[in-house]
Amino acid sequence: MKGFLCLLLLGLSVSSLELTGPSTNAARLGSDTRVPCLFTVDNPPVDLNHLKIFWHFLDKEILSYNKTVRTNSSRYSLSTEELVTGAANLTISNIRISDGGRYKCSVIYNSERREKRLWLDVGVPPQVTITDKTVVVNEESVLRCSATGFFPIDIEVKWFRGSERLSDVIVDHPQKNPDRTYSVNSTVTITPTEEDREQNFSCRVRHFLLTDPRQVHFQLIYVAALRLVTQSLPWLPGDSGIVGRWRAVCVTALQRPNSDAEAINIIVGIAAASLSTPQNDFK
Ligand SMILES: *[C@@H]1O[C@H](CO)[C@@H](O)[C@H](O)[C@H]1NC(C)=O
Ligand SMILES: *[C@@H]1O[C@H](CO)[C@@H](O)[C@H](O)[C@H]1NC(C)=O
Ligand SMILES: *[C@@H]1O[C@H](CO)[C@@H](O)[C@H](O)[C@H]1NC(C)=O
Ligand SMILES: *[C@@H]1O[C@H](CO)[C@@H](O)[C@H](O)[C@H]1NC(C)=O
Ligand SMILES: *[C@@H]1O[C@H](CO)[C@@H](O)[C@H](O)[C@H]1NC(C)=O
Repeated sequence: MKGFLCLLLLGLSVSSLELTGPSTNAARLGSDTRVPCLFTVDNPPVDLNHLKIFWHFLDKEILSYNKTVRTNSSRYSLSTEELVTGAANLTISNIRISDGGRYKCSVIYNSERREKRLWLDVGVPPQVTITDKTVVVNEESVLRCSATGFFPIDIEVKWFRGSERLSDVIVDHPQKNPDRTYSVNSTVTITPTEEDREQNFSCRVRHFLLTDPRQVHFQLIYVAALRLVTQSLPWLPGDSGIVGRWRAVCVTALQRPNSDAEAINIIVGIAAASLSTPQNDFK
């Protein structure tokens, strides 16, 4: 019991200087970022005359505080006002990809010294857009979602119809952009029904720089099937050479299903036009 008490007292006296704060941090490329390092002392407020701070990046000293702040780059800073409250946060301006990596915060107070290792990940969150949402009712249709300009490469794409997760999803291999970020397409194949007209679909993208996934909601755009209609018109008078050789080949794009009558109207229109201008020689 005596030993335990001794240990407890020893433990208390040893832990008078404590470093806290998250060990892993994420920063957005180009932002001004704080790498947190919080410390607590026995008898606050902190006496700056007895405090020294050192920040290391990849084992090289980048900033120190010993009455004044010294740093090897104007992009690093430390607020001396905040030191009194126990925050030795390192601020890095205009974060670059190369700022990502291992940091070490060292705090010396009176004769005690504590160190904390931290990790900083630098990245860019993706932009998410739906690039294909036109479908044909009761036919296999492909929806496409595009996530662009993200770093690092790791990303997750999921598709939903309402709250139902869709299968039959393909996520392509990400492509590298000239600025070192990545872009990727994901497609899902569905056979939409009439009821799906009212449904909300969504593409949900997770990336480590997004605390919440980025989700784009959309409704399907229904178009009719693209159909090639080839019609010869046997009832046209065959005595004129031009008309006799006449064949109407007509592509009606985005023709509504069950409206072949409309397509034939268009063809008859073209035929009529060609008859009134005999130099039109459709071969
Ligand atoms: C230091 O960083 C921590 C963690 O991000 C934050 O909670 C705290 O407010 C910061 N302190 C100051 C003074 O900026
Ligand atoms: C802090 O500064 C004092 C005087 O400038 C110097 O003697 C001392 O060695 C420095 N301490 C550290 C840990 O660099
Ligand atoms: C400061 O030190 C860091 C870590 O060694 C290094 O990456 C950076 O280039 C240095 N900056 C300057 C301006 O020397
Ligand atoms: C995504 O798909 C679009 C349209 O097919 C294409 O233009 C683009 O290059 C694709 N992007 C990637 C990263 O594959
Ligand atoms: C789709 O979203 C709209 C607007 O957010 C909502 O009013 C509607 O009820 C949703 N439809 C379905 C089928 O969930």
